[in-house]
Amino acid sequence: MTESDSKPALLRMRGISKSFPGVRALQDVDFEVGPAEIHAFLGENGAGKSTLLKILSGAQPPDSGTIEFDGRSVSFASPHEAQAAGVVTIYQEFTLAPDMTVAENVFIGREPGGHVFISYRQLEAQTSELCKRIGLDRSPAARVRDLSVAEQQMVEIARALSMKSKLIVMDERREALLHHPRPEARRHIDHFRHPPPRGSLRDLR
Ligand SMILES: Nc1ncnc2c1ncn2[C@@H]1O[C@H](COP(=O)(O)OP(=O)(O)OP(=O)(O)O)[C@@H](O)[C@H]1O
Ligand SMILES: [Mg+2]
Repeated sequence: MTESDSKPALLRMRGISKSFPGVRALQDVDFEVGPAEIHAFLGENGAGKSTLLKILSGAQPPDSGTIEFDGRSVSFASPHEAQAAGVVTIYQEFTLAPDMTVAENVFIGREPGGHVFISYRQLEAQTSELCKRIGLDRSPAARVRDLSVAEQQMVEIARALSMKSKLIVMDERREALLHHPRPEARRHIDHFRHPPPRGSLRDLR
């Protein structure tokens, strides 16, 4: 057992390789995330960032390599399976329903109170709490189409947090969010980490 094997890791990807016809997207990539850590991948277009995240989120299988998550060996067959284990992915393309409210979007498909009688009061109270936590100053009853792009991204994050996620995966840049004019919104990422984080920038080139 090496030293890194004995340290607690939430995620441990080992020797991940993936090729597409004519392209070796990933070759023997190791990647670890510990509890309360934030990592970013840097790399030019085509470096393999999205491919690694798709493998992590169950959207694509690796050609080889192993993944351990939360203390067990996993091989997610679908994003749904990854989500059930606590790996929640926010995709580059927005997946929000613009005509629905913030609260409906946060809990879409998993409304508290069951599917027949949805408890809107509960839905909005829980959404309100999540919005407060990440610094989104909008009513849970607001229509998503009336929100700025940065605010819509925060709704996606509220949704990810509401899923009892253990690891949130975001592909692509979140500039709109990070350049949000309100400092408390920019700081929302701090809410992901308890205790204060360790982390790294990982260069995939
Ligand atoms: N489904 C696919 N079929 C064929 N080739 C693919 C597929 N997905 C990715 N690739 C190729 O694999 C390589 C890595 O792509 P990937 O999308 O992971 O890069 P990236 O680092 O996310 O790039 P970007 O910064 O442009 O998002 C590229 O050469 C890409 O063309
Ligand atoms: Mg990409």
